[in-house]
Amino acid sequence: MSQTIKAVRGMQDLLPEKKARFRRIEDQARRVLDQYGYQEVGLPVIENTHLFNRLVGSTTDIVEKEMYSFKDRNDESLTLRPEGTAGLVRFVNEHGLAFNQTQRLWYTGPMFRYERPQKGRYRQFDQIGVECIGMEGPDIDAELLLLCARLWRSLGIDQQVRLELNSIGDTASRQAFSAALVEFLQDRREELDEDSLRRLEGNPMRILDSKVPTTQALLSGAPELKDYIDAESQQHFKDLCAILDAAKLEYRINPKIVRGLDYYNRTVFEWVTDSLGAQGTICGGGRYDGLVEQLGGKPTPCVGFALGLDRLALMFEASPEVRAKVQVYAISVGDRARREMMAIAEAVREETGLNVQVHAGTGKLKAQMKKADTSGAEVALILAEDELAAGVVALRQLRGTAQQTTMPAGDLPEALRNIFE
Ligand code: HAM
Repeated sequence: MSQTIKAVRGMQDLLPEKKARFRRIEDQARRVLDQYGYQEVGLPVIENTHLFNRLVGSTTDIVEKEMYSFKDRNDESLTLRPEGTAGLVRFVNEHGLAFNQTQRLWYTGPMFRYERPQKGRYRQFDQIGVECIGMEGPDIDAELLLLCARLWRSLGIDQQVRLELNSIGDTASRQAFSAALVEFLQDRREELDEDSLRRLEGNPMRILDSKVPTTQALLSGAPELKDYIDAESQQHFKDLCAILDAAKLEYRINPKIVRGLDYYNRTVFEWVTDSLGAQGTICGGGRYDGLVEQLGGKPTPCVGFALGLDRLALMFEASPEVRAKVQVYAISVGDRARREMMAIAEAVREETGLNVQVHAGTGKLKAQMKKADTSGAEVALILAEDELAAGVVALRQLRGTAQQTTMPAGDLPEALRNIFE
């Protein structure tokens, strides 16, 4: 017997309700991004593995253990993108969009990370990424945060999310801090958990992120990043906070936010919710002023964020159905009626813009009426023997009073418009 083949672990199938929730979020995001003058771009799902090793950082979890990398037929090492920023930086460099220009860009699509799947954490997940190129801020940092807040409001979830903000300074301040942190933790190595011990060598700042209680307790006496931040970054952060205060955007300064990717400097932020359990970060981002240069371009300040569509969609799981609705259900009995109804439905769609579902295949009138009812449509159009003989179509209202009238097909658009107005 043949074995059933199931979806690959961690790769989600999106059933119609779920996909509709994604679409609702995307539609709102598109509207909000238009309002701020951002342009959508399309980026490949596959990039050269080097790109991520270099830009995301070889000691990050993503590069160390989460990438889907493979050799293609040409023996090149390629990777299914684990995130979009590295690809976008390659894109702006390659198309000469970073030099002496400013860009406000966004993209959407699937990302891939070999993480341990659980609610809100998948191996294929969708992001909307928003990136600003060539602007030093802090006004542009503030703009991005205000844009996010507007999106949450438009989705009706602004009361469920909060903004956590931090500044991690420039490279030199982070290096000085990392050195101080390593020195502090070296003497307490035996008290560290296994992951943190590994990070002590390659990426000590990520230890601050540790969820292990004993490690967190140990860190309470450790040096603090804020004491190592350079003066310019401090000013940048102060100015950002002043803009947010003036715009009345609430935030909490959280010194523990360091982010899981290596490319950040200065501003970093996360939008978090308590309504999703452990995977509560719905959006994260920050400045990455060094990336364009790291890829061979001229020094170019950049800032951006990405939101997780899968996590956002989970926040709408309890809310009512948002699927596109069938408005009109077209029924026909007999071969000739079936052919004619196909053309009538096309004309109705063309002239009214209504959503018309045509009954596919044959079936008794009664059975088709049942289908019309469960489709959720308000109206059924019926073309059976009697109607054919009289040269009319029957229009039946399915909800409330079940009124039925007949008319020539040419009159349907007007009659339907009156009903759906
Ligand atoms: P990130 O924090 O790795 O940042 O991901 C951004 C968002 O993607 C997260 O806040 C989360 O909502 C969602 N996400 C991440 N991993 C998963 C997963 N395994 N399953 C479901 N959702 C997930 C970035 O990717 C950066 N490129 C953001 C950025 C843009 N920074 C500057 N510009």
